[in-house]
Amino acid sequence: MPKMLWSPEYELGLEVIDNQHHRIVNYINDLYDVAEESASEEQLKEVLNNLVDYTLSHFAFEESLMEEAQYPDLQEHQLVHQNFSHLIEGLQQRFNQGEAIAQELASLLQEWLIKHIMTEDVAYVGIVKENLLGIPPEKHQSWVQSQLKKYFQYYHN
Ligand SMILES: [Fe+2]
Repeated sequence: MPKMLWSPEYELGLEVIDNQHHRIVNYINDLYDVAEESASEEQLKEVLNNLVDYTLSHFAFEESLMEEAQYPDLQEHQLVHQNFSHLIEGLQQRFNQGEAIAQELASLLQEWLIKHIMTEDVAYVGIVKENLLGIPPEKHQSWVQSQLKKYFQYYHN
């Protein structure tokens, strides 16, 4: 599978979310890199765990954003995240048991992410912009910052 290129058409216009999506794409590419380079098991494990962990944190962050904006289809969106989380956690487990699934995980996530951004994610953008950007910018900023701290404690955003 070729490396995944970020394209402006994947941008939703919410900077904090676009940055996270972009970062997931970078992690996917890191995984391709180490999977191809016959990197050490430790390296592979670290990159794979980062990818899965960051993606799950992103889901939690995105859900809190939708909840704060009172997005009416939050539950459906949560269910989509949940189902996909189970899928990637299952793969992560198989990896931990010694199966060579790194590339499979990278390409699954690659395919899923773009489809998800362009269908389910794009659907909440309007209401998030309207409801969150309706409050004073300083408040909006500090809410976003506190949620970033909460869900991404191990990452610099
Ligand atoms: Fe999502």
